[in-house]
Amino acid sequence: MANPSLLILAGDGIGPEVMAEVKKIITWMGDKRGITFDVSEDLVGGAAYDAHGTPLTDATMARAQEVDAVLLGAVGGPKYDKLDFSVKPERGLLRLRKEMDLFSNLRPAQCFDALADFSSLKKDVVAGLDIMIVRELTSGVYFGEPRGIFTEGGERVGINTQRYTESEIARVARSAFELARRRGNKVCSMEKANVMESGILWRDVVTEVHQAEYQDVELSHMYADAGAMQLCRWPKQFDVIVTDNLFGDLLSDAAAMLTGSLGMLPSASLGAPMANGRPKAMYEPVHGSAPDIAGQGKANPIACILSFAMALRYSFDMGDEATRVEKAVEKVLADGVRTGDLLGPEGGTPVGTSAMGDAILAALDASL
Ligand code: IPM
Ligand code: MG
Repeated sequence: MANPSLLILAGDGIGPEVMAEVKKIITWMGDKRGITFDVSEDLVGGAAYDAHGTPLTDATMARAQEVDAVLLGAVGGPKYDKLDFSVKPERGLLRLRKEMDLFSNLRPAQCFDALADFSSLKKDVVAGLDIMIVRELTSGVYFGEPRGIFTEGGERVGINTQRYTESEIARVARSAFELARRRGNKVCSMEKANVMESGILWRDVVTEVHQAEYQDVELSHMYADAGAMQLCRWPKQFDVIVTDNLFGDLLSDAAAMLTGSLGMLPSASLGAPMANGRPKAMYEPVHGSAPDIAGQGKANPIACILSFAMALRYSFDMGDEATRVEKAVEKVLADGVRTGDLLGPEGGTPVGTSAMGDAILAALDASL
């Protein structure tokens, strides 16, 4: 059988730095576990714009459609702020999500014991936290038409459209229910049905899918603003949260901080199964390109490394190897190894990106 294939799109800012640590782990998997990937690399975001005048070339898009999984670093940076909207680095990422039809975005927020003191919330609120936000990723206000900046009655109007079809809601709801069955068996759906028709439809369709196919899973509904409040008040009440593209963007950043640092959080974006049975998939850290620390070797590579672990689990059915990587991260944190973002007010000596990667490799070696 052919080796599983990976396309690495490291992107901008700290993207290449954190991805370098993932590459070490990919090599380790080949050397020590006999799991060899066919790895190709390409450009995305500002890096692709600099080379080709577009944040994603058609050739890269085509390659992304062929491989078993895409690993993405981060896109964007102040250098590109003035670019026309159509060629901004973020457009490259959004095109990948849309054209690969990666409708289900899994964003786990897990609090590692060693970091529980470091959250901005009280330790008992976050210790042991393990929730999964399932964010719809290919529709909603991110893609709805009409959109644009128009002139009306002598002034400019900015327009975006929140639009969801029943089938778009139903498929992401199914993916949340399926996940819940393998976790705590609870789904909380979040929208704004009190002010938005798309929210009313969202609530109706989630309820219908639940009634028809998933009555064994506990379902609740919350307005997204109340959900944000509850996430900060008592996050452990949640297991799986399913929500739309924009609310999911906001709620997942908020959830990330519960765990101590945005530098810790991985994500998986999954679509329909391909011919080989694997889902179309892209894996990326939830954090961005962090231009303020880019190029300094300071970034925390853990979110990107845990994203690769998610690839092992969700694309390649290698749950045991995924757990091995996650345990290695846990071990390193328990040993007190910290990048700058993981140092609390009491300070300490941070390690750099590459030292963090090496510590995780050492923990992997120790796991054999
Ligand atoms: C995310 C990011 C992206 C988004 C940006 C970079 C386009 O914030 O993945 O959460 O808004 O979806
Ligand atoms: Mg975001």
